[in-house]
Amino acid sequence: MNNPIIKINNVAKIYDTGKISVAALKEINLTIHSGELTAIIGPSGSGKSTLMHIIGCLDQPTHGSYFLDDLEVSALNPNKLAEIRNLKIGFVFQSFNLLPYLSAFKNIEMPMIFAGIDKHTRKKRVDELLEIVDMTKRALHKPTEMSGGEQQRVAVARSLANNPEIILADEPTGNLDSKIGDSIMNLFMELWKSGKTIIMITHDPKVADKCERKIELLDGEIKAQ
Ligand SMILES: Nc1ncnc2c1ncn2[C@@H]1O[C@H](COP(=O)(O)OP(=O)(O)OP(=O)(O)O)[C@@H](O)[C@H]1O
Ligand SMILES: [Mg+2]
Repeated sequence: MNNPIIKINNVAKIYDTGKISVAALKEINLTIHSGELTAIIGPSGSGKSTLMHIIGCLDQPTHGSYFLDDLEVSALNPNKLAEIRNLKIGFVFQSFNLLPYLSAFKNIEMPMIFAGIDKHTRKKRVDELLEIVDMTKRALHKPTEMSGGEQQRVAVARSLANNPEIILADEPTGNLDSKIGDSIMNLFMELWKSGKTIIMITHDPKVADKCERKIELLDGEIKAQ
């Protein structure tokens, strides 16, 4: 077994919106090892995206501790958190979340600009990534000029820009028809075989069955693994 890359101890997330407070996560304990392919499943509102946001350093737990690569990220300030996120984690979302006014090339390049990578290195890396996701011919197209499956390929390439150890995907095939969804899932399988740690939220049992490990959330708790 590879080393534990994600260690979550007694993590709770409570959203306090004035009158009501929602316990979106309750006492979650979870260890994920480097190189694992994990599916997170569970009904709507069970806390899947909340858990992913914490794992992805987009949000902090209300209680408990989170160690990423042995660094306690639950103790970091927002700037440091953003820095870690940009280097260690790639995100793919259901709605692709590409910047609409930028080409595929520019969208993929963006995380490298934030990381301070020089222009020559960026160009070389974007070309490689376009190749990996088979989108070289669409480099100069904007999102509105691409199909959903093509946009998601670009989003996967963007998630890989800074060569993160971890890829987090929230329903990456949710907006795609099943054939296109399969091709995106195949892309994730390739990335997994190349050594990436991948965590994927999905409602699709076929997608979840392809993962090594399944974690089921129910009412903010891990019901089964
Ligand atoms: N920013 C927020 N403020 C208040 N409550 C929130 C917030 N975000 C999520 N919640 C609540 O926390 C709970 C868990 O939400 P979460 O988005 O993690 O669910 P999910 O499992 O991802 O659901 P879905 O499958 O519909 O995406 C829900 O009850 C939701 O209403
Ligand atoms: Mg969600």
